[in-house]
Amino acid sequence: MASRRFLSSLFLLLLNLASTSLSEPLIRLYSKPPFSGSRKVLKDDGLYCESWRLAVETNNAGSWAQIPQRCEQLVAAYMKGDRYASDSEIIANYSSEFAKTVEIAGDGSDAWVFDIDETLLSNLPYYEAHGFGSEAFNENSFDEWVDLAEAPALPASLSLYKELQQLGFTIFLLTGRSEHQRNVTEKNLLYAGYSDWERLILRDATDQGKPAIVYKSERRSELESQGYTIHGSSGDQWSDLLGFAIAKRSFKIPNPMYYIS
Ligand SMILES: *[C@@H]1O[C@H](CO)[C@@H](O)[C@H](O)[C@H]1NC(C)=O
Ligand SMILES: *[C@@H]1O[C@H](CO)[C@@H](O)[C@H](O)[C@H]1NC(C)=O
Repeated sequence: MASRRFLSSLFLLLLNLASTSLSEPLIRLYSKPPFSGSRKVLKDDGLYCESWRLAVETNNAGSWAQIPQRCEQLVAAYMKGDRYASDSEIIANYSSEFAKTVEIAGDGSDAWVFDIDETLLSNLPYYEAHGFGSEAFNENSFDEWVDLAEAPALPASLSLYKELQQLGFTIFLLTGRSEHQRNVTEKNLLYAGYSDWERLILRDATDQGKPAIVYKSERRSELESQGYTIHGSSGDQWSDLLGFAIAKRSFKIPNPMYYIS
């Protein structure tokens, strides 16, 4: 039975080959795999969710509150798999290539600004327990996680951070976290392997309620007026990077789990 099927497949293949000019790639013969019904549905969700993720990364999606329910599996697979690690690494590599082109004055005025959450630190353990962004954001429960001070480093960001220090950049950390979270944030950064930043900037009383893009622009603007040149900025949110007093080069780290305006 099996050998007869094999022979007829072979026959079809030879027939196909005969009708195909030898200069054409063989792969053409296999370009239309027969998907079963269930595979097709999975494929369509996958296709939709990949397109959705690209729209989110490019900011074409604008502001959004929760990930589409049908994309939870894809976002989980992306965040936990090799792709997120590879995407983050290639961005760190481009950041490093750019950083090496900067002429460092040597007076400490050459600055690089890092966001913290999903940039230097990864809250993936928290989001894994909360549907990868498919649940509504719960500030109290997230703050409890922050208080643990156990978020791991994003490996690509940690090596970039150290390389930038070696190159002579002055590092500023600009986060949407509040001033009352300063101690746990410092503790977590040290735990994850970060050290020797110039300044950790958190939201103080006057920043409460401001959109992140305004708060962060204002603080970058202050740095500029203090004589710093902001060469590079790394963040997982467009609101880390856009606005005013923007860096010469901005590097967007992927984040398909949440959006901050
Ligand atoms: C990033 O750079 C390192 C060191 O040059 C290299 O080994 C690695 O393959 C690069 N990663 C990517 C994703 O290009
Ligand atoms: C934060 O740490 C400093 C010393 O490192 C301490 O004096 C201060 O009380 C702490 N603040 C809070 C809110 O725990």
